[in-house]
Order: sequence, then structure tokens, then C-alpha cells
Amino acid sequence: MTNIPAAILGTGRYLPARVVPNEEFTATLDTSDEWIRSRTGIGERRYASSSDTTATMGAAAGHEALRAAGLEPAQIDMIVCATVTPDLMCPSTANLIQAYLHCRVIPAFDVSAACSGFVYATSVAEQFVRTGTAKHVLVVGSEVLSRAIDFSDRNTCILFGDGAGAVVLGAATTPSQGIRRIRLYADGSRQELIQVPSRVTPNPPPGTAVLPNLKYLRMNGREVFKFAVTTLKEMIHQAQADCTELGITLKLIVPHQVNVRIIDAALEGLNLSPEQVIVNLDRYGNTSAASVPIALDEAVRSGRCGPGETLLLVAFGGGLTWSSALVTL
Ligand SMILES: CC(C)(COP(=O)(O)OP(=O)(O)OC[C@H]1O[C@@H](n2cnc3c(N)ncnc32)[C@H](O)[C@@H]1OP(=O)(O)O)[C@@H](O)C(=O)NCCC(=O)NCCS
Repeated sequence: MTNIPAAILGTGRYLPARVVPNEEFTATLDTSDEWIRSRTGIGERRYASSSDTTATMGAAAGHEALRAAGLEPAQIDMIVCATVTPDLMCPSTANLIQAYLHCRVIPAFDVSAACSGFVYATSVAEQFVRTGTAKHVLVVGSEVLSRAIDFSDRNTCILFGDGAGAVVLGAATTPSQGIRRIRLYADGSRQELIQVPSRVTPNPPPGTAVLPNLKYLRMNGREVFKFAVTTLKEMIHQAQADCTELGITLKLIVPHQVNVRIIDAALEGLNLSPEQVIVNLDRYGNTSAASVPIALDEAVRSGRCGPGETLLLVAFGGGLTWSSALVTL
């Protein structure tokens, strides 16, 4: 069995055209642009049009990642898609993306780990590349959260947006390139903090975590906030220790885009400058599993990080789940 590090060969993103500024919420909710900006850092987000679905957006992001990698769809050996808003429970979103991109008959499946999903999906793809089982794997994070939120709940609806991001993983050309370390965690004992209904179990047995008649995303924002700050801080700290052990320099952090106050609080005392952290939630809000690959694509295309430089993908969310990947481009 081979042991080849998996590198990012190309990145891509798709954001739906419809821009939804904070002001759109003030007509129906007791909220304001000032409250949303100061408490979250969000100025606007994108919402899918009637012709956008999780799979069409994922395919569009995947198409861009393939172009950036200089590859044709026929050269993809596997697709892994992270999402909590699949178009269908079956077939998987990855399966639909495989058809939309006209790929060969290849393995395609979804990974469900909420906002941590993209890093989880990357960890699966990485193992197929490292063992030589697949040459090129398309990893996608795609969400239409605008179809899962309660527009009468000001605590949640202002936070989320739609979009998709993707990467193509393939064999690294040098031992110091590619995914250097991945860490994944889940703690189901705090499952009630964020829930997105599946519509399969509308009348759950008493004593289980599923809330009866749950139609929309539900969240305990304050508790998630505390979890997010602590976890983000710990994972950045861990990555800094990993960098020291590996003898590499951390150039850029690509965190899950949740709330600028969470990012600022986590960075306190960590000796990092604002230029070392990608923040785009002012334009897109929280796009769950799509947030990290969208931010990564922006970072790569804008030149914030380039070949030979190391970045940290770090995410946390429902489950609870949290995850990080240290990657040298
Ligand atoms: C949701 C979040 C923005 C709320 O910010 P906060 O500073 O913690 O605010 P609180 O929950 O303490 O609420 C403060 C007050 O603002 C109110 N409020 C909540 N949303 C509001 C809105 N959109 N506009 C105006 N007021 C709002 C609350 O009702 C509360 O009012 P009260 O004191 O009268 O009860 C913040 O907790 C957060 O970002 N959490 C992370 C959530 C997340 O993104 N999870 C996704 C998965 S990773």
C-alpha cells in the first residue's frame, strides 16, 4: 500500500446571485442592521434562487475546482459531499453532482457532520488518495440553509446563507506538500444545541433528542457561542503546536464563518495578526459545510496563500462536531 500525502490541486466556489442585506429582515422582525452587524459581523448573505439546489451549486463549485486543477470530469475517481441540507435523503447529493458533472461511474456519497462536514469529507478523501486507491477526489461542501430556517425566529434566520465550495485532492508532488494533519471530534451528548430536522421522524419516541414537529433549524445560540470560542481557541493552539513539531510556519487560518465575535475571542492571546485569518461572513453569513471551502477558495484566488505555504482549516458545529486540517499548498 502506498503512502502519498494528498494535496489540494484546485479550489472553486459558487455563490447564488441573490444578495440579501440585513435590512431585508427589519420589515418582518424586531431587529436592525446595527444589531446584526455588531453582534455577528454579518452584513449580507446569499440566497439560492428557485433554480439553485444543493447539488447544482455543489456541481458549479466542483466545476470551478476542476478547472483550477486543470482536470476533466472524467479524471475524477470519487466525489464526497458534505451537507446538512441535501436535496434528497436518497440519492446522495454527491451522486447528483456526479451526474451533473458527467463524471464516470465512480463512488459518490455524502458526509454529514454539520459545519465540520467539509473537513470530515476531506479526511475521507485524503485516505483514498494517500493509499493510492483514488488518484483525484472531488470534495464538496454545499448548503441551502435558506430552506431550513424559520424566518420568524430572529435568533437564527439572520445568521445563515447559501453557497458551495469545492476542492480537488490528488497526490502531492513533494513530501512537504499536502495535508499534514487532520483532527476530527464529535460529542453527541450535546446534540440538542443545534438541530436540523430530517422530516423522517415527525413524532419521535419520548426521551430521544428529536424535538416533536421540528420543522426548521433550532439552536441555542448562547451555548453554541461558548462552545465555538473554546473549541476554536483549542484547535488553533493545537495547530500551532503541530507546526512547531513539524518545523513549519502557519501562514493563514481559514475558520468556519460563524460570528466575527467568536473568531476575535478565540484569537485573543494567540499572537496572530488579523491578516492571518480569513473572514468573509460580512458577505456570506454562515453557510455551514460550505463556509470553509468558500473561504479557502477566496484565500487561494486572492493570493492570501500560495504554493509552499501552510494553512489551517478549522470548523465546529452541530453534533456537536469539530475538526481541523493543517495543509501545505
Ligand atoms: C446567535 C448569536 C448571534 C446571539 O448573540 P448574543 O450576543 O449571544 O445574543 P443573546 O443570545 O445573548 O441575546 C441577546 C438579546 O438579543 C436578542 N436577539 C437575538 N437575535 C436578535 C436579532 N436578530 N435582532 C435583535 N435582537 C436579537 C435576544 O432575543 C436577546 O434578547 P433578550 O435579552 O431580551 O432575551 C450568538 O450567540 C451566536 O453567534 N452564536 C453562535 C451561533 C451559530 O452561528 N451557530 C451555528 C452553528 S456553528
